Amino acid sequence: MDFTTSKFQEFAIRNFEILDSSNDEAKRLIISKTINLDNLVITTKQQTKGKGRQGREWISEEGNLFSSFIFDISKENHPEFYSYFCALAICKILKTSGLSPQIKWPNDVLVENAKIAGILLEKHNNFLICGIGINIDSSPDHLIERKTTSFKNLKIDFQIEEALRMLTANLSKIIKEYKKSGLANIINDIKTLLVTGNAEILLGDIKTKGEIIGINENGEMLFKTGNEIKKISSGEIFFI
Ligand code: BTN
Repeated sequence: MDFTTSKFQEFAIRNFEILDSSNDEAKRLIISKTINLDNLVITTKQQTKGKGRQGREWISEEGNLFSSFIFDISKENHPEFYSYFCALAICKILKTSGLSPQIKWPNDVLVENAKIAGILLEKHNNFLICGIGINIDSSPDHLIERKTTSFKNLKIDFQIEEALRMLTANLSKIIKEYKKSGLANIINDIKTLLVTGNAEILLGDIKTKGEIIGINENGEMLFKTGNEIKKISSGEIFFI
């Protein structure tokens, strides 16, 4: 498959015209072990088999951003925190564009209560693949489970290249901050963006109704069901 390469800060970027899924390309590269994988980014203009969470399809028409970041997590105790890093990195782009984003736990990014970006984390061997899709030019308008939106729909002129540049810059900054000072500042930022209140979440395979109260200092979501407050790790969102 043909691709061009570019580099931004510590990230080596492979730009494809078309792929089945950038996460699947990342997985193939991890299996092949032929290149340096840490901080490698796969990006593509289109996906023929874009994947969403919980086995859903991610409709992937040209004009939106589809990228997968690979991180070596062999020395990382909490790879699940990367879901917050990605969500925060996306929210920072949206804020810079004058929008007011929110995070629907664990990692949907919403604007005006409609989904504008999604994150799919997959682990493979010692690597984490953070697949990020941002709706720039279009968003599916026929989904029953959720309203969706895009930069264009919100009347904001935005280029994919600029989105990718900002995404890499923001992620780089957030991960450095985490490695230097821990999670505290990141959690504080996430708290200001988190959608709280009544929610239905998947615990294991079971849909459970309750109330999202917040996030604690360990990054666990506090979920009230009846009189009980459960602490839920975002680690439950991995696809292996
Ligand atoms: C979700 O919200 O369901 C997660 C969507 C993740 C979509 C991105 S697009 C780039 C990467 N490649 C994929 O096949 N999926 C992720």
